[in-house]
Amino acid sequence: MKQLKGWAIVSRALNSLFTNLKASRVYLTEVVLSALTFALIYHYFIYPLSLTGIVLLIIFILVLLYFMGKIRTKELNNIINTISAIRDNKLLSVNEISLGKNLSTLQDEIKSMFLKSKTDIDNLKRLERVRTEFLGNVSHELRTPIFAIQGFLETLLDGALEDKNVNRSFLEKANHHTENLNHLLNDLIDISMIESGEMRMSFRYFNINELILTILNEQKPFAEHKGLTLDYDPVRENLKVFGDKNKLQQALVNLIQNAVKYTEEGNIRIIVTEQKQYAEICVEDTGIGIPEKDIERIFERFYRIDKDRSRAQGGSGLGLAIVKHIIEAHGSKVEVKSELGKGSQFIFRLKK
Ligand SMILES: Nc1ncnc2c1ncn2[C@@H]1O[C@H](COP(=O)(O)OP(=O)(O)OP(=O)(O)O)[C@@H](O)[C@H]1O
Ligand SMILES: [Mg+2]
Repeated sequence: MKQLKGWAIVSRALNSLFTNLKASRVYLTEVVLSALTFALIYHYFIYPLSLTGIVLLIIFILVLLYFMGKIRTKELNNIINTISAIRDNKLLSVNEISLGKNLSTLQDEIKSMFLKSKTDIDNLKRLERVRTEFLGNVSHELRTPIFAIQGFLETLLDGALEDKNVNRSFLEKANHHTENLNHLLNDLIDISMIESGEMRMSFRYFNINELILTILNEQKPFAEHKGLTLDYDPVRENLKVFGDKNKLQQALVNLIQNAVKYTEEGNIRIIVTEQKQYAEICVEDTGIGIPEKDIERIFERFYRIDKDRSRAQGGSGLGLAIVKHIIEAHGSKVEVKSELGKGSQFIFRLKK
């Protein structure tokens, strides 16, 4: 038994000796050449080497190689363990990666690789969550008008069609919901085109006064219908700005429709101020205003401060998300100033 144990110790020692010597093979040529050069110089210029001296030198070389191999094996094992831990997701923080002073460059590289793959994975998870949330929101928003249309049509088919008091109003309501559905689908198409990078922009100089006056002509009846005034005091006649006219029209229409939607009395004003390099465009209303805490969030897809109020008016909460993308594609940003109960201002700049 004792003999067996002894053999096991010897065989383990031999195994470690061979492994470390094998690991030191990369240094073999350098070590042997240096030792040979040293031996030759010593032999010819200092003192002739005896057989014992040669044997001692060989033993010295072997011991040196053994220790060099030992250090190398330890370092390699450390690298292998670190990489395996990263692969198996066992590392929680970058501080757990430590390869020692000699391998600090490699350690930094592995650390940055670890951080990059961690952020990539986090981003993928976030995208997946956003996608699921988006799908959930879309189905929820689609369900509302579809159920309403279905309800009105079923009631009509069940006999209300013959009832002259309600048949027309039911059809009008069903029709109103198909318009909402259409509005939602158009917004969804726009958002998906924008986010997949398929939105083609066509930038050129155009007359900002002309664009605003065209929009105003279209939107005035809606404002007046609510007893609101929609004003614009044209800026310098020939003021041209640089941008995609159609997309900016879409953004401005969205902002003006919001102003009309969220204002009960007073007026909506479009104000253009000319600056040195920019024209600043502001859509101002005297409406309900936006609470401070919601200002950042209103640009998120489907975010509405008062969901019921917005939905009742056919809003899907995608309008400002589209506006944000369009204005950002022009290298600008929408700034919001608002006071609860007093009104809001949506401001952005365009290059002259
Ligand atoms: N001028 C405004 N005054 C007050 N609140 C506003 C104004 N503009 C936007 N909001 C708030 O921001 C939310 C998001 O606006 P957004 O235009 O994205 O959606 P929506 O108007 O509800 O629906 P959609 O534009 O899709 O028809 C609105 O629901 C509303 O609560
Ligand atoms: Mg809107």
